Amino acid sequence: MLNVEEIRKQFKILDRKINGKRLAYLDNASTTQKPHKVIQALTDYYENNNSNIHRGIHTLSEESTTLYESARVTLQKFLNAKLAHEIIFTRNTTEAINLVAYTFGEKNIHEGDEIIVSELEHHANLIPWQELCKRKKATLKVIPIKEDLNLDMEIYEKLLSEKTKLVAVTGMSNVTGTIPNIKKIIELAHKFNSKVLIDGAQLAAHTKIDLQELNCDFFTISGHKMLGPTGSGALYGKEELLNEMPPFLFGGGMVLHVTQQETSYTGLPDKFEAGTPNIAETIAFKSAIEYLEEIGMENIQKHEKELTDYAIELFSKHKEVKIFHPENGGGVVSFTIEGIHPHDIASIFNEYGVAIRSGKHCAHPLIERLKIPSLARMSFYIYNNKEDVEQAEKALKETIKIFK
Ligand code: ALA
Repeated sequence: MLNVEEIRKQFKILDRKINGKRLAYLDNASTTQKPHKVIQALTDYYENNNSNIHRGIHTLSEESTTLYESARVTLQKFLNAKLAHEIIFTRNTTEAINLVAYTFGEKNIHEGDEIIVSELEHHANLIPWQELCKRKKATLKVIPIKEDLNLDMEIYEKLLSEKTKLVAVTGMSNVTGTIPNIKKIIELAHKFNSKVLIDGAQLAAHTKIDLQELNCDFFTISGHKMLGPTGSGALYGKEELLNEMPPFLFGGGMVLHVTQQETSYTGLPDKFEAGTPNIAETIAFKSAIEYLEEIGMENIQKHEKELTDYAIELFSKHKEVKIFHPENGGGVVSFTIEGIHPHDIASIFNEYGVAIRSGKHCAHPLIERLKIPSLARMSFYIYNNKEDVEQAEKALKETIKIFK
């Protein structure tokens, strides 16, 4: 089990008072707070090692390169990827998905082909595919959700065909917490020789990922949603696919030889990391992963389940509240209160020190499908405790009182 009180000591920001109240930070699906170890890693790097990587033979450059490359190995092991150079550092999931759309997509998607996404996708795993389909005269197909907020797997099977070239699906919805059966989604797609991208922005922060077991072709993560700094993230791709894909961005650090008219490129992973990358953030992301590993992903998942169940128990006692959460969903509890706009809910919660997100959650089509204008959302992480949930329920009671 998690020692939440010890964990909380590592997050100084949790000592802040918001409107005179203790802070209950329940906006973790948006971004998580950073432990002391991660903030210290940024400072240490800038105070002791700062230099550009892969470019110098002086001591600082070699140290920086070693630290940066060791982050790649740490992430490879954390995700159980087969090879370190299958990990490409990006700024976030959005950049990772765009990388795949502009390289794998440009090369392999042709007129008449089909790409399958789901109704659960946030914009980062929808718009790049919409745009690719427009450029290529391909068709975007959508797996619908059922009333229980899970994907309709029967319809998914019917959507798959020889025309399917890519299935791009979230590992966990940032709106409902739905966790699709990605293992099955991948197996079914592979029967039609389609490639599969799993958007792991939410999932990887909460669940042990084993990429070799999953056997997806691409997987994306955002460091800032798992205790790392903003600007840290990664794309995983199978070696043979990454090798065949053209570079995404062009510039220094990814070339073998350049003449006035022609350039030849390096291999993996540098081919996809043109220019000076987010060195400090990536090195500090390594500290975040080590911290998560110390705690244990199984323990994290169990802790979040307890808080999620507790929040659903407390909130569902109020008849005005409607909760949007499937059975066995992840640590995200979205809700509406009859007659009160979610922005008003979030604003009153803030008066009581409770940080939640309100709005369309960068997932407009899903919000439309749920037939609501927007949602209020609580999302949990390792440092949250039952007191946070109780504080949220107190804010809920006050919100209902003010508006009735
Ligand atoms: N995708 C992030 C969220 O759900 C920004 O809040």
